[in-house]
Amino acid sequence: MKALILSGGKGTRLRPLTYTGAKQLVPVANKPILWYGIESLVAAGITDIGIIVSPETGPEIEAKTGKGDRFGANITYIPQASPDGLAHAVKIARPFLGDSPFVMYLGDNLIQDSLNDFVADFKKKPLGAIIMLKQVANPTAFGVAQIAADGSVTRLVEKPKDPPSNLALVGVYLFAPEIHQAIAQIQPSARGELEITDAIQQLIATHQTVEAKELSGWWLDTGKKDDLLEANRIILDEYITHPNILGDVDERSKISGRVVIGKGSRLTNCTVRGPVIIGENCVLDNCFVGSYTSIANGVSMSDIEIDHSVVLAGATISGIHRRIVDSLIGERAKLTVTEHRPKALRFMVGDDSSIELA
Ligand code: G1P
Repeated sequence: MKALILSGGKGTRLRPLTYTGAKQLVPVANKPILWYGIESLVAAGITDIGIIVSPETGPEIEAKTGKGDRFGANITYIPQASPDGLAHAVKIARPFLGDSPFVMYLGDNLIQDSLNDFVADFKKKPLGAIIMLKQVANPTAFGVAQIAADGSVTRLVEKPKDPPSNLALVGVYLFAPEIHQAIAQIQPSARGELEITDAIQQLIATHQTVEAKELSGWWLDTGKKDDLLEANRIILDEYITHPNILGDVDERSKISGRVVIGKGSRLTNCTVRGPVIIGENCVLDNCFVGSYTSIANGVSMSDIEIDHSVVLAGATISGIHRRIVDSLIGERAKLTVTEHRPKALRFMVGDDSSIELA
C-alpha cells in the first residue's frame, strides 16, 4: 500500500502567512501540520509516500521535509502545475501510484484516529474505497455523504447548498486502483476542478463497494486561523505529556504543568502555565505565557502576557500591557510598545493581516 499526500494549493484562507510559506508547513505545537500526517501513515506501516506540491511552495516543503529519512519513509515529490482539484492530483500521481491501493491524505487535515484499523480492514475486504465521515455544524463547507439505513453510501455531494446530511467527508481516503478509471470518467465541477467526491460517486455508480466510517476521535482541517488555534490546543494537550526543560530558567521564574522549553532558550522572571511549548534559542524576559501557547524557535518576548496563541519563528513581541489572546503571529513579525502609555499606534501590516484591539 502506498500513500499520496496532497500538499499543493494556495492556502488563501490562511493569508497572510501563506504568502510566504505553504499552509501545510504552518506549525501546530511547533511541528508542521504535514508531518503529523506522514507520521500517522508510517505508524500504519505505509512508507512509500508521494507528496503533491505546487510550483510556489514545493521547494520549501521539499527542503524542510526531505526525502523521508527522519520519518523512516521514502518520499517522492510530485509537482502539480495548477490546483485543478483533488482528483486531478491523483491523475498526475498515476506513474507513482501504479496499480497499488493507496491512502490519500490532505496535507492540512489532522485526525486523532489511528490509520491502522482502516488499513487492515481495507486489506481484508474487496473494497473500492473507504471514506471517513464526521458530523459537522457547517456541512455546506465540505463534501457531504448521504447514508442509507444499512450504512451504505448512496450519494456524495461537494459543498452542497442543501446538504443531505451533516456528515462531512474527512480529507483521508483509502482507494483501490479502480479509482483511476472513475477519475477518467468525470468532468470538472462548477468550480472548475476535478473533484474526488465526484470520482467516489462514480465508483458507487459502477457498483464498487464504498465503505463509510464515522470517526470517533477529533478531526481538524487547519486551513483557517481559528481552526489552527484549535488544532494547537488539542495537539498540545495530547502530545505534551510531561515537562521537558532543556533551556535555562532563572530562579524568579515559575513553570507549572506540562511545559517544553527547547535548547538554548533563556527565561528570566517569567510565569509559564502548561501545556506550552517554547522552541530553541528563544529569549523571554518578564512574561506570562498561558496555556495552549506554542512559541517557535528564535522568538524574543519581553514584558508581555500571552495566552492561547501561536507565535512563529523569529518574532519579537515586547511591552504590550494588555493580554494577547487567540492570536497567530507570523514569522519575524515585530509587535513592540516603546512608551509606557503610547499616544500613537504605528503599523506596518502585511496584506490580508488582521488586527483587533478588543
Ligand atoms: C476538500 C474536499 C471535501 C472535504 C474537505 C476536507 O475540500 O473537496 O470533500 O470535505 O477537503 O478537508 P477543500 O479543502 O478542497 O475545499
